[in-house]
Amino acid sequence: MVDIKWEELGFSYIKTPYRYISYWKDGAWDEGKLTEDNMIHINEGSTALHYGQEAFEGLKAYRTKEGGINLFRPEQNAKRLNRSAERMMMPEVPQDKFIDALKEVVLANEEYVPPYGTGATLYLRPFLIGVGPNIGVNPAPEYIFSIFCMPVGPYFKGGMAPTNFIVSEYDRAAPHGTGAAKVGGNYASSLLPGQEAHDRNFSDCIYLDPATHTKIEEVGSANFFAISKDNQFVTPTSPSILPSITKYSLLQLAEERFGMEAVEGDVYIDKLDDYVEAGACGTAAVISPIAGIQNGDNFHVFYSETEVGPVTKKLYDELVGIQYGDVEAPAGWIEKVK
Ligand code: PLP
Ligand code: COI
Repeated sequence: MVDIKWEELGFSYIKTPYRYISYWKDGAWDEGKLTEDNMIHINEGSTALHYGQEAFEGLKAYRTKEGGINLFRPEQNAKRLNRSAERMMMPEVPQDKFIDALKEVVLANEEYVPPYGTGATLYLRPFLIGVGPNIGVNPAPEYIFSIFCMPVGPYFKGGMAPTNFIVSEYDRAAPHGTGAAKVGGNYASSLLPGQEAHDRNFSDCIYLDPATHTKIEEVGSANFFAISKDNQFVTPTSPSILPSITKYSLLQLAEERFGMEAVEGDVYIDKLDDYVEAGACGTAAVISPIAGIQNGDNFHVFYSETEVGPVTKKLYDELVGIQYGDVEAPAGWIEKVK
């Protein structure tokens, strides 16, 4: 057994024994294979290095009570990777190849899938990068698709303890830019705002819509949701936010399992009084309750600075219960690795 204190894990890199790597050249993918080498040797002209021609994904493997291993909606990650790839002019990764490779990586690193009940999971990071000899602003001649993994704990320090967020004056994406694609450039542009938020003791930034700066778009690393006074589950809609798989799952659960009205709509930053709870949601963030939002000089507290609101808690328990196999999943949401 590997010597890891599962309960104490944060969200940091750990080298696990195996990763998958596949090469695309002359119009076709090779078969791909597992390797122990965690270094990638690529041409100095690779577009991923100069022009950000890359895309990535993030999903988790969950150890069930019975010792099985679940993936949560991995075909959605495959589809999103391919939408990102299309936007970045990269070749598609066939869905079967994507899911088979995920399973191979999980099984090869099975010792690193955290035990049930520790709150930790195995985070999987698929990525697709443009490589090969190039210098002009052109799509790369070759591509690498790889998946590595590591056990992780909570992304935001508090986990299920509410934390504070701050409205950023920067934009992470342009109105008709690449915000809806999971591509490196969006995250590179969020590093400085993120650091400024952390320096002021906030968990992360809240970005407003880049066209009018009046509506909440999302968090730097997760989508945003709020619970309205009349028990609606509300989450922003915009062409420049990342379509979160967690968010779409919560929209469905709120409606089907809790009889709430689930709305993709506008959340105006000057109308936060309409909401009684708020949170960040995503694979890494899971559901992270938002205590308060700092907007200029104004600090708005939702439910409580210390306690999780009841609706947020209920949604969390349902989502996480499904992921670990304790609660019955809607059809097709769980892909068993073993
Ligand atoms: N928004 C951003 C910017 C993200 O990086 C992520 C993480 O993947 C999400 C939202 C949440 O997406 P998902 O629920 O598919 O993980
Ligand atoms: C994820 O939730 O998988 C993310 O990609 C968020 C962040 C770690 C980039």
